[in-house]
Amino acid sequence: MTDPLIVPSVLPADFARLGEEVRALCEAGVDRIQWDVMDGVFVPNLTFGPDVIAAAKPHSTVEFEAHLMVVNPDELLPRYVEAGCELVIVHAETCTHLHRTLGRIRDLGARSGVALNPHTPADVVAHVLAEVDLILPMTVNPGFGGQKYIAAVEPKVAQLRRMIDESGYAIELEVDGGITDATITGAASAGADVFISGSWMYAYADGKAAAVKTLRDLAAQASTKGQDS
Ligand code: DX5
Repeated sequence: MTDPLIVPSVLPADFARLGEEVRALCEAGVDRIQWDVMDGVFVPNLTFGPDVIAAAKPHSTVEFEAHLMVVNPDELLPRYVEAGCELVIVHAETCTHLHRTLGRIRDLGARSGVALNPHTPADVVAHVLAEVDLILPMTVNPGFGGQKYIAAVEPKVAQLRRMIDESGYAIELEVDGGITDATITGAASAGADVFISGSWMYAYADGKAAAVKTLRDLAAQASTKGQDS
């Protein structure tokens, strides 16, 4: 289990000033930046093409990850790697040949991730642990920011933590959706070590740097408690 990583989603950002927004996130001390890529089919929303991400990349001092909420990720993989995403996350629900898709992401030179919708069981990834660098059990139904955290996903997070630890592979366990100062403790105690925050971080009254520190400290406290118990 790595030290907790805090990764903002830029979904709440001002899309008219994405370069400045990326710089502000880097100055706030985030560990990576997540781009929620939506095609309007897999999820009822439409967001960032690869050219938008490529335009923002020169403004960043941290890695980019693309969360592909799209019906046909295989066709788009090269575009998002070329745009500067060091980590590409596909949804298991959109991959007929998930093992091959994850291998293709690595062949393109990026790290591979697989996301699971709240209803999708952890066992779906049982036979691809050797192909994956990150597993993302969604804690909301994908498509929009600002949704309520689904605590019922926590047992799946814990099951995935056990699967990862038993596998011996260095796989990050990331949660995404409704992560705030009130929900991060449950997710971290269940075994998550990477935390996506969008609306809560952008709304934090004391600014993004304080929001990052608050989330990182809470996650560290929870995972330490979890390891001691
Ligand atoms: C859902 C998105 C959101 C976003 C984070 O498709 O993936 O989960 O990243 O949104 P908040 O932190 O506002 O729930």
